Amino acid sequence: MMATRLGALLRRSKVLTMASQLRSCRNSVCGQSSILSSSSPALAESLARLRSLYGFRSMHKSLFGTSSRKMCTSATLLNSNKAEAASAALKLLVNGGPRAQKMVGIWLFGCSAWVFSLVVLGGVTRLTRSGLSMTDWKFTGSLPPLSEDQWLCEFEKYQQSPEYKRVNRGMSIEDFKFIYWMEYAHRMWGRALGVLFAVPFTYFLAKGFITRPLGLRLSILFALGAGQGLIGWWMVKSGLEEPESEYVQPRVSPYRLATHLTSAFAIYCGMLWTALSVVMPEPPTGSMSWVQGAAKIRKLAHPLSMLVGITAVSGAFVAGNDAGHAYNTFPKMGDTWIPKDIFNMEPFIRNFFENTSTVQLNHRILATTTLVAVGCFWLASKKIDIHPAVRSLVGSVLGMSTLQVTLGISTLLSYVPVSLASAHQAGALTLLTLVILLMHTVRKPSPALLKSMASLPKLKS
Ligand code: HEM
Repeated sequence: MMATRLGALLRRSKVLTMASQLRSCRNSVCGQSSILSSSSPALAESLARLRSLYGFRSMHKSLFGTSSRKMCTSATLLNSNKAEAASAALKLLVNGGPRAQKMVGIWLFGCSAWVFSLVVLGGVTRLTRSGLSMTDWKFTGSLPPLSEDQWLCEFEKYQQSPEYKRVNRGMSIEDFKFIYWMEYAHRMWGRALGVLFAVPFTYFLAKGFITRPLGLRLSILFALGAGQGLIGWWMVKSGLEEPESEYVQPRVSPYRLATHLTSAFAIYCGMLWTALSVVMPEPPTGSMSWVQGAAKIRKLAHPLSMLVGITAVSGAFVAGNDAGHAYNTFPKMGDTWIPKDIFNMEPFIRNFFENTSTVQLNHRILATTTLVAVGCFWLASKKIDIHPAVRSLVGSVLGMSTLQVTLGISTLLSYVPVSLASAHQAGALTLLTLVILLMHTVRKPSPALLKSMASLPKLKS
């Protein structure tokens, strides 16, 4: 009777594969028929915990494909008292069981996807030169112009800006409407994210789903998101000021643009990491050998993720200085490998952030180093015994790095068209996503899980 009830429970949670493997492990390998006949309520609790442990697997079966080795491990775990100890020691970020965990996970993945789209929309806004069309800012936002008079009023304000006077003089109101709508959409998309985040957060808090550590993390992310709006306006303001020289085109400060983009990347990575931690409280383990393999990958992946991050930030300086419109050749920069003017600015340090040639050279060097490092990482990983999910993530990081470098070169050679430059920006985010997934997958398992694994009998795979 208990077995029937358990069957229904598992079917409801869509882990039938796990159930059948559990049963086969029970019968053929583990030979512990007492598992399902036990009527202990602690068993049901353990099952729920384990189900949440593998929650991510049911969401992304293809990534974390089933492995009988792991399932037998689960079955053995189930049968041992250590399973209860492990599940008690497992610190879940969400209270209220697997359903609450799934709801919170979906919400956070949705927010991450929203941030992704917001970054891309911001890139398109910059690339279509729409970012300076709105000359004022309110934290809460306002309605767009609704009548022709209101449009004329907004247009008049824009006509006082240095960008109109120096770049867009004579622009028609129809063209102005286009750049205005682009900027308006970017700002409102950001505010909508605030609502999408805050409303479910309040609801989940009221339901008691959010644990203290998760609440703290989410509050920090919310504060960063609100700060991002302020940074955005601080950036735009720098572009509304009269440039120092009459020969210089008005544009936002590269430092502020890099701050805005880096902060967006940080919010995205933080949100994604948190979403993954909610649905996958423990990394996939499988066997001790895979756990050791994951530790080796983790050591290599740490510096690699830093390199990817630094390359992405250096790209923000390329964008901020419009450096993609110079030296549209590859691999040489014009006729030389290294332009002569790379250290022309004073003080010396300014060259790395404001000198078009140096900024582009840096980005090329960092990107090439990233690709070579990822290639070496992939080669090294071939000699390590790792979980199939980890192996496929390492391969994906290599594939995405290659694509990203190809996109970067194509963007440069074709003088930064909106389509390719946006794809290059989205590529950077996709690469970051894969790196985050990899880092999250090779995390250290909790001591309780490690302990229970260490005491398992060795099974034939
Ligand atoms: C791992 C490799 C790379 C990463 C992670 C990366 C990342 C980035 C990022 C984040 C940006 C800022 C995007 C924006 O705000 O619009 C950027 C811009 C840029 N990157 Fe890369 N990049 C890589 C490789 C390359 C390569 C190999 C080249 C060409 C030699 C290149 C050329 C450019 C150019 C021209 C821009 C400015 C585009 C614009 O003005 O929007 N990138 N990159």
